[in-house]
Amino acid sequence: MAFIRNAWYLACWSSDIQPGAMFKRRLLDEPIVFYRKTDGTPAALLDRCPHRFVPLSMGVLKQDNIRCQYHGLTFDCTGKCVDNPHGDGKIPAAAKVRSYPLAESQGMVWIWMGTGEADRAKLPNYDALQQREGFSTSHGYLNIEANYELMGENLLDLSHITYLHDGFLGSPEQRGADQTLEEKDGTLICKRWMPNISVPRIFDMVYRRDGKPVDMWTHMTWIPPSNFLLDTGVHEVGGQREDRGWYYGVHILTPETEKTTHYHFAAVMPPGTQLDEAQASEFSRLRRMAFEDQDKPFLDAQQAAIGDQDFWAMKPVLLTVDAGPVRMRRQIERLIKEEAL
Ligand code: FES
Ligand SMILES: [Fe+2]
Repeated sequence: MAFIRNAWYLACWSSDIQPGAMFKRRLLDEPIVFYRKTDGTPAALLDRCPHRFVPLSMGVLKQDNIRCQYHGLTFDCTGKCVDNPHGDGKIPAAAKVRSYPLAESQGMVWIWMGTGEADRAKLPNYDALQQREGFSTSHGYLNIEANYELMGENLLDLSHITYLHDGFLGSPEQRGADQTLEEKDGTLICKRWMPNISVPRIFDMVYRRDGKPVDMWTHMTWIPPSNFLLDTGVHEVGGQREDRGWYYGVHILTPETEKTTHYHFAAVMPPGTQLDEAQASEFSRLRRMAFEDQDKPFLDAQQAAIGDQDFWAMKPVLLTVDAGPVRMRRQIERLIKEEAL
């Protein structure tokens, strides 16, 4: 399967790569090993020794280098072989592995999977995750057994919360909500506006609305290839956005294989929210439950049903709520085609 390659993908949360340990993950169907150099900066190499192809992650970290544990070749963080313990010690020209440019910021490690220049200016904007006075952040991870575009559709078309997350993130009056789609600098913003609805449980719990009706919004932004940022909240019917009552939902997908996806999510609560520790952990627990116990089984089953068939060849029914997902799919196709030129 073709992926967009000249783009930054989220490799993992910073906390996944601990000093002195190797962390392996398959991204865009390539096995990759991550580690931290002695100065703390992360490094990434193709997780395959060029000698007999065993994973380097089964080897040993030697300061800034990895020594393959099978026959002892040692590679530095650029993938160059720096020690061959055999014969006269000459390093064969082919003894090198691919290394990947990384960028670490705001608790995330981004990886450049393409051959084009890894331009930091192209990092997706997640200023929402910046450590700021009074903001609180929590994050999590799930492995989804479905293609990242299927998962992307789930995020861009939030009409499903009325059904799949009913009474929890959704409520029945959200049916047929106004939905608009904007395109800005290559990003898509899908906005839903749901006035005068019964308050979904998660908002009632976190923002103590006493079960009173609310106006609710969800603004989901898609940044290619597979990065999402949700601005969502509630306020009193006919009211205005307040200091509390909303949060940012960060949803970042990275293809693992054609049919599996790394799903990174985070929530950023503004200073006005003022949750105590128990409420904050209940909020995180409920969100994770929605993704893990409600979204994931549907996504996994959807992929199983599609199998190896081509999505468009299956002639999916198109509804008004599909405007965003279809536009996203078309843009991904276009970007892949442009890269192939
Ligand atoms: S397989 Fe790595 S040195 Fe032989
Ligand atoms: Fe969902």
